Amino acid sequence: MQTLISPSLLAADFTNLKADIEMVNNSDADWFHLDIMDGVFVPNISYGLPVVEQIKKIAKKPLDVHLMIIDPDRYVEAFKKAGADILTVHYEACTHLHRTIQNIHNYGMKAGVSLNPHTPVSVLEEIISDIDLVLLMSVNPGFGGQSFIENTYSKVEKLAQLIKEKNASVIIEIDGGVNLETGKKLMEAGANALVAGSFVFGATNPHQTISELKKL
Ligand code: DX5
Ligand code: ZN
Repeated sequence: MQTLISPSLLAADFTNLKADIEMVNNSDADWFHLDIMDGVFVPNISYGLPVVEQIKKIAKKPLDVHLMIIDPDRYVEAFKKAGADILTVHYEACTHLHRTIQNIHNYGMKAGVSLNPHTPVSVLEEIISDIDLVLLMSVNPGFGGQSFIENTYSKVEKLAQLIKEKNASVIIEIDGGVNLETGKKLMEAGANALVAGSFVFGATNPHQTISELKKL
């Protein structure tokens, strides 16, 4: 499988968001990664539903929505209506994760589960066959531009092993501190999808940087 690239708009220029969305539309990227933060689950507040709705109007690729909010069940329907295609919730934020996954599927979206850096992949053992994607955090969620946590490589290997054992079909996506160097090692460890924020939007040529990531 080719590397899936999901540029994170958190690092985009919000005073000129349309230009950045069009750049992604015309690039080799596969998805738009949208980071939703509530100031409770993570120590930061990003943007919410009205912004997602507007992005959806001009985005020509699926919206990969990463919910960093507590009790995300409350907003599954709203994010579907706003245009989410993939909805990822945090393991640490769900009391009834299986129900939340069912809820996301009932609304016709792909369901993802994200794990914080300290959460072992083994917690997914009983749910891995029910989900479409795992989003491994390679930084503590809440901010862009942080440095990559090296322990992530072994988590990717463990997750790939778990998926194989269960004979499941699940995308392994990594979020935080991704660049060409960490991205290459992540792909070697078994990742399929990479989120990149500051590495893409901070680049002199973001369009070309996406192509370089895509070739990993
Ligand atoms: C962090 C977010 C990331 C963030 C990644 O909480 O989940 O998606 O935008 O940013 P970079 O690629 O700059 O680490
Ligand atoms: Zn994210």
